[in-house]
This record gives sequence, C-alpha cells and structure tokens, in this order.
Amino acid sequence: MREIMVVGVGAGDPEHVTVQAVNAINRVDVFFMLDKGEVKQELIDLRHEILTRYATSRPYRVVRGQDPDRDRTSAAYAEAVDDWRRRRADVCLRMIDSLGPDETGAFLVWGDPVLYDSTLAILDDLLARGAEFDVQVIPGISSVSTLAARHRVPLNQVGRPVQITTGRRLAAEWPAGVDDVVVMLDAQTAFTQHTDHEADIYWGAYLGTPDEILIAGPLAEVADRIVAARAEARARKGWIMDTYLLRRNP
Ligand SMILES: C[S@@+](CC[C@H](N)C(=O)[O-])C[C@H]1O[C@@H](n2cnc3c(N)ncnc32)[C@H](O)[C@@H]1O
Repeated sequence: MREIMVVGVGAGDPEHVTVQAVNAINRVDVFFMLDKGEVKQELIDLRHEILTRYATSRPYRVVRGQDPDRDRTSAAYAEAVDDWRRRRADVCLRMIDSLGPDETGAFLVWGDPVLYDSTLAILDDLLARGAEFDVQVIPGISSVSTLAARHRVPLNQVGRPVQITTGRRLAAEWPAGVDDVVVMLDAQTAFTQHTDHEADIYWGAYLGTPDEILIAGPLAEVADRIVAARAEARARKGWIMDTYLLRRNP
C-alpha cells in the first residue's frame, strides 16, 4: 500500500521541525511540492532548506504541482473554496500517482497540518473518490503556538476558553462568549473594527523567520501602528502572513 505522510514543519523557523518530523522525512521516497507562484517563493525555499538539512539518510525525488488560482472576488465564498479545493485535489492526485506501489510520499505542511490547512481534507476527498493510500499525520508547531511563545503570553486566561477564527469572521462580529480570540487568515485587518473594545492585541508577522515583526499593546493605541507596519512589510516583501491574539478582560 502506498503511504502519504502529512508532515507539519513549523511556522518558518527550520528549528521548528520536530524529531518526529525528521524521522518521518527520512522515510520518504517522494516529496510533493505545490508551487504557489513567485510571491511565496520564500516559502518554497524554506521547504527545500528543510530537505537539505534533514532529509539526509536516503535519496528522494521531488514532484511539483501548480497550485490552482482561487477566485477571491466571488461573493459565493464557500462555493469558490469548494471549487478551488477540487482543482487542488486533482493536482495532488496527479502528484500522488507518480508514487511506485510501495513507496511513501509526503506533503510538508506549513505550521501544523490540523490547523487551517486543506491537505487532510484533500486526501479524504481523494480516498472518497477511490484512490488507495494510507495517511499518517505528523503534528507541527503552529503559527498560533509561535505567536504566544514569542509574546510570552498564554493563549487562554485562567479557566477561560479561547477561540481560533478567521479575519473574515472577526470582521462580521466579535465571537460571542469568548474574551480571547486568535485570528488567522486576516487580509483585511479586522481588528481595526473592534477598537471600541477594551482589549489588548498581540500581533506577529513572519513569525519564526528573520523578518519577524511583533507588536503588542492596548488595541485602541497600537491598531494604527500595526496597520502601517503591515502595509509597509507587505509592500516591501510582496506577501505577508500575520496572526494575532485579542484579549479582553473577562
Ligand atoms: C492557511 S493558514 C495555515 C496555518 C498553519 N497550518 C499553522 O499551523 O500555522 C495561513 C495563516 O496562518 C498564519 N500564519 C502561518 N504562518 C505564519 C507565520 N510564520 N507568521 C504569522 N502568521 C502565520 C497566518 O494567519 C496565515 O494567514
């Protein structure tokens, strides 16, 4: 049976790669790489650096696929994501089909594969369509863990819940019943819509990389500084990945 490993490689620092991930990487015959266009070339380079550093015990092949574009203008968000996932699954199936009968393939996934990542859903989709392979998941250090560690704060207040959500959802409303909200995938600086809350923000961009930026403080006081730092960094590098924790007193 072919085996597919989904290996979390951390949020940007090659030292985030765990011992378990290194052991898994050294059992792999073929690494699958989805190219996301030149803007994120640095992310592809990091995967290659990880292989150069850690995949040392046996020869391996790299098979590349082109990540399909997603329609970000569509009002029908769920349908647009479904369509993109389907086309992405087709690309993944073509890459997986390059495996020999008993070979092991791997996707190196940014952060932790169980947090806002579509690889596991894509593999489920392919299995449901009749593809045959075993799946193993190696957890990774997420951008959320990295954010909290770099700011030296726990994610939750004592005995309280914490919610992880998207910028799109935070833009709609502050989630009910929680004072601690971690926000990912926020292209629209949704925190600026909540400066009337007495909250603190712990913001981080390019976490774990040499370009890391950290800003923290009362939301109403530092929101503009974060917006400016974000815009400047995005213009300079051509892309940005940022995450933040919003914390209200209960
Ligand atoms: C598709 S999700 C992938 C999350 C990933 N699986 C994880 O465990 O962190 C991409 C989002 O993760 C966050 N992210 C990932 N890496 C990051 C980093 N190095 N610094 C800041 N945010 C990051 C950003 O919110 C970005 O929009």
